Amino acid sequence: AKEYEHIIVTRPAPGVGLITLNRPKALNALSTPLFNELNEAVAELDGDKEIGALVLTGSERAFAAGADIKEMKDKTYEETYGNNFLESWTKITQLRKPIIAAVSGYALGGGCELALMCDIILASPTAVFGQPEINLGVIPGGGGTQRLVRAIGKSRTMELTLTGRNFSAVEAESWGVVSRVVAEGEGQVVKDAVQMAETIAKKGRLAVQAGKEAVNAAYELTLAEGLRFERRLFHGLFATQDQKEVHCPPGPSSPVYQSTR
Ligand code: CAA
Repeated sequence: AKEYEHIIVTRPAPGVGLITLNRPKALNALSTPLFNELNEAVAELDGDKEIGALVLTGSERAFAAGADIKEMKDKTYEETYGNNFLESWTKITQLRKPIIAAVSGYALGGGCELALMCDIILASPTAVFGQPEINLGVIPGGGGTQRLVRAIGKSRTMELTLTGRNFSAVEAESWGVVSRVVAEGEGQVVKDAVQMAETIAKKGRLAVQAGKEAVNAAYELTLAEGLRFERRLFHGLFATQDQKEVHCPPGPSSPVYQSTR
């Protein structure tokens, strides 16, 4: 496997790629060089036939404590607008395979936004989310205002964006930002995320890709357009080998059997 400076890429289970952010001393502060590596690793795993799902994580103490403030603080308007600063930070949203964020500790600013770019978020009870950019005289720039509104509504997003207050794993779960808070324990959130990724990696690849595409379309399309889009993808899956392999009545190991009982 390729050696990176700011991330570690491993394959902890069949079909699963695990990317660990690795700037522990800076609480995984995010920078353009880190995103260049992350984008490269994600593209490689996306194109790898052995891989069916990805997990993105940080350390116990921090998923990521936001954009690297040291890198960011002296930037000018000319540099940020002129070079479309943060554009390369959202490439992960173009990934075809599912990616699960396993969040422990701080997920602040760009760290919270990075988790929101993933398809599923699992949180450790220690997870702390927030958009503290207002304390730095700016606002979220990696999609925080837009993705949070869609996840938790206007009033909560407005409160978080304008006060900069953090929110807990329990709040994140009750608001639907994360799918669940896992049990306490070091490494537990990564373990659960890898297990979930392994489950997904065992399903039909094209059906998983279509499922992700259909759910994401709900953010972009009207209901009528979204329903049509979903139906067309559904129809298309009848051309796949995976669909032909499902037996009727479903046997104990078939995906249909598992999902309907
Ligand atoms: N950028 C650069 N370095 C950071 C960092 C960041 N965002 N967050 C933490 N660090 C560094 C600290 O400078 C410190 O380094 P040194 O040991 O060299 O001093 C190290 O990580 C440990 O941090 P603390 O000593 O501060 O640890 P703590 O436990 O006392 O506090 C914390 C943790 C509350 C997360 C605190 O570090 C903090 O508030 N960090 C900044 C959070 C923030 O404002 N993030 C938003 C950034 S803006 C953004 O993300 C824009 C966007 O939309 C993309």
